[in-house]
Amino acid sequence: MAAVAVSVAGLLTLSACGGGDKQDTAGGPAAHKKVEVFSWWTGPGEADGLKAMRDIFAKENSNFEFFDAAVAGGSGDQARALLSSKLQANQPPDTFQGHAGAELQGYIKSGKLESLNFLYDELKLKDVLPQQLIDQITVEGQVYSVPVNIHRSNVLWFNPSVLKGAGISGAPKTVEEFVADLEKVKKSGKIPLSIGSQWTLVHLLESVLLGSLGTDAYNALWTASSDWSNANVTKALDNFKTILSYAGTPQDDWQPAAKQVADGEAAFNIMGDWAYGYFHNPPEGGLGKESKKDFDWAASPGTDGTFMWLSDSFTLPKGAPNRDGAIAWLKVAASKEGQDAFNPLKGSIPARKDADQSLYKDYLSWSLEQWAGDKLAGSIQHGVVANDTWRTAITDAVGLFQQDKDVAKLQQALVAAAKNSGQ
Ligand code: BGC
Repeated sequence: MAAVAVSVAGLLTLSACGGGDKQDTAGGPAAHKKVEVFSWWTGPGEADGLKAMRDIFAKENSNFEFFDAAVAGGSGDQARALLSSKLQANQPPDTFQGHAGAELQGYIKSGKLESLNFLYDELKLKDVLPQQLIDQITVEGQVYSVPVNIHRSNVLWFNPSVLKGAGISGAPKTVEEFVADLEKVKKSGKIPLSIGSQWTLVHLLESVLLGSLGTDAYNALWTASSDWSNANVTKALDNFKTILSYAGTPQDDWQPAAKQVADGEAAFNIMGDWAYGYFHNPPEGGLGKESKKDFDWAASPGTDGTFMWLSDSFTLPKGAPNRDGAIAWLKVAASKEGQDAFNPLKGSIPARKDADQSLYKDYLSWSLEQWAGDKLAGSIQHGVVANDTWRTAITDAVGLFQQDKDVAKLQQALVAAAKNSGQ
C-alpha cells in the first residue's frame, strides 16, 4: 500500500513516480496494465470496503492490475490537496475518488474530467441511480462520475453504558438537550464528546448548523441569496462554541475519536457513518463491537428527519495513463455486485436503487429507510455544498476558532468565505 504520512510536496513526487511500485513509465506493452486508483481509504473500516471492490475487479480483469494509490488521512485531508496538485501538473491518476456535488463540479469546470455519458448509456446507469444524485455530477448534460455510495454525515454515535452511568435515558433530540447531556457526562467523569483532527470540527460544525438552523435555513446558506451574517447563524455558532467546550483532547483522526466512544471512555461522537464500518467490521479491519451494546446511534441533535448526505464517486481524468483500466474500474464501481460488496463493509448504503437490500442490516437498514423518507441537506466537509475554495476557507476559520473561541470573528470569516468562494 502506498499510504504513507509525508508532506504533500513529497507525495506529489512519490506519486508522480507511481507511488513507489508502478513500473510503467517506459511505455511498453506492460506499460498500462496497472490501474492507479486514488482514494483515501487506508484506515481501519474504510480499507475493508475498498478491498472488497478490488477483489471483484481482480476476478473480472485478469488483464489489469489494481494499484492502490490511497493516501492516508480521514476525509482526504492529505489526499485532496495532493490530488489537486497532481491534476494541476497534468499527472492524473487513472481514476480518483471525488465527492459528488460542488467539489467535483470544481474539477469539471476546470476541464480535468472526461464526460462519462458513454458509460452511463452503455450500462443504463440513469435507470438505476437517483436523479438528484445524477444532477450533482452533471454539467451541461454531461455526467462526470460514477457514485458508489451514499454516506450520512449527521450521526450521533454514543455509548449506551456511559449514558446510563451519567443518568441519561436516551439520545438527545435537540441541541439544548444535547448540551444538558454533555454537562451530565462531564459530571460523571467521562469525556462528554470525542473529537479528532481539525477536519472533524468542520464535520461537527455542519451538524450543529443543521440542528440549530433547521433544514431550509441550512440549505439556503449555499444559495445565491445566502446570509451568513444573521442572528440565527450567530446563535448556531454560539451552540458550536458551547458544544466544543465539552470536547476531549483532539485525537489524530476520526478513528481514535470514535474508538473512545466504543471503548467507553467518551459518551458521544458526531461522525459520518463510515464509523459504523469501523465499529462493526470484524477485528483486523474494524473493532468487532456489538451494535446497541458497545455503541448506538441517532440523528445528530436537532436533525431528525433530515439526511445530511454525501457520496463517494469515481472519475475518469483527462489524460489518464490507463484509460481502459480506469473504465474497467468504473464498471465495477457502477455495478450492483461492486456496490453490494463495498457498502456493507464501508458503512454506507448503495447509490444504486436496485441493490440487494437484505445485505444492509442494523444501522444500514435504518440509513436506507432514512434516505428514502428524509429531507436532504448536503455536507460541507465532504464536498456537497461548498467547492474546495470555500471549504478550505471554512476549515481555516474553524482552525482559528479552535484557538481563540471568538464567535464574532468566526462569523465574519464565514461571511467572507461565502463571498470569496467563486461558487
Ligand atoms: C469520505 C468517506 C470516508 C470519510 C472518512 C469522507 O470524506 O467520503 O468515504 O470514509 O471521509 O475518511
